[in-house]
Amino acid sequence: MSEAQALERFKSRFFSLSGHNLALYKDVDPRLERYLQRTGYPDFEALYTQLQNNPELQQDLLDSISINVSEFFRNPERFQELKQRILPQLLRDRMQLKIWSAGCSIGAEVYSLVIMMANLERLHQCRFLATDIDSYALERARRGIYAPELIHHVAKSDLSYYFGPLHIKERLAYQFKAPWRQKVHFEPHDLLSNTYPEGFDLIICRNVMIYFNQETKYQVYRKFWQSLKPDGVLFIGGAEQLLNIQELDYTPISPYFLRKNKD
Ligand SMILES: C[S@@+](CC[C@H](N)C(=O)[O-])C[C@H]1O[C@@H](n2cnc3c(N)ncnc32)[C@H](O)[C@@H]1O
Repeated sequence: MSEAQALERFKSRFFSLSGHNLALYKDVDPRLERYLQRTGYPDFEALYTQLQNNPELQQDLLDSISINVSEFFRNPERFQELKQRILPQLLRDRMQLKIWSAGCSIGAEVYSLVIMMANLERLHQCRFLATDIDSYALERARRGIYAPELIHHVAKSDLSYYFGPLHIKERLAYQFKAPWRQKVHFEPHDLLSNTYPEGFDLIICRNVMIYFNQETKYQVYRKFWQSLKPDGVLFIGGAEQLLNIQELDYTPISPYFLRKNKD
């Protein structure tokens, strides 16, 4: 069997075993090859044998193909647009906002929204769900400890209100304070195989779909549409636009914000 056939067979068996379809990721093959090298199994057959009765190893493989780069107020100008253009409309029509950060990684994105809503004195109106496929990232999100470079977009005036300093192995870090962390419910969720939760006013999914191939991206957008309430907004990343977005019954408000059309 050629290397390419072995990889295809591995992906298909892993799908049957775990329900996670690796084939839906863009450029997944080199990442799987690196994983094989790093873990030291002689080939994909041997890796698969180990995976069979080892859910932790299955999770480790999934974690290794998802990339967790994140920071507070990543692309600050888009958070400004959210604050000045999108939120006023959403808040005008609604008593409560249900917000979902899908592919939340280490929590910096959803905690940025918590800070924004608290500063607007609207936090009491918000419910936050944050999900990711990567259990290790979710654990880090729940702990909420960040290196200084991940919070450099946080306003100086907000720093001590929302964060407490910590020293970890003599290095300075900042922990998002517990009362703020508790505003967010973190949960594992695979955008490619799990049922989507529903009833959201705002879904934020940035720098996640870049890893999905075009057809998968299309399906994910369609499912987000079902998860949104009419007039709800999907906030996406810079490299995640779809060309045929009108087909999906969204109206672009700007390149990064799509409104679900009313039925
Ligand atoms: C680059 S991070 C983006 C984090 C955050 N949204 C941001 O923009 O700062 C991408 C995240 O997507 C998650 N991810 C990748 N595939 C996923 C899937 N199928 N379902 C849910 N999350 C996924 C990864 O685990 C990773 O934490």
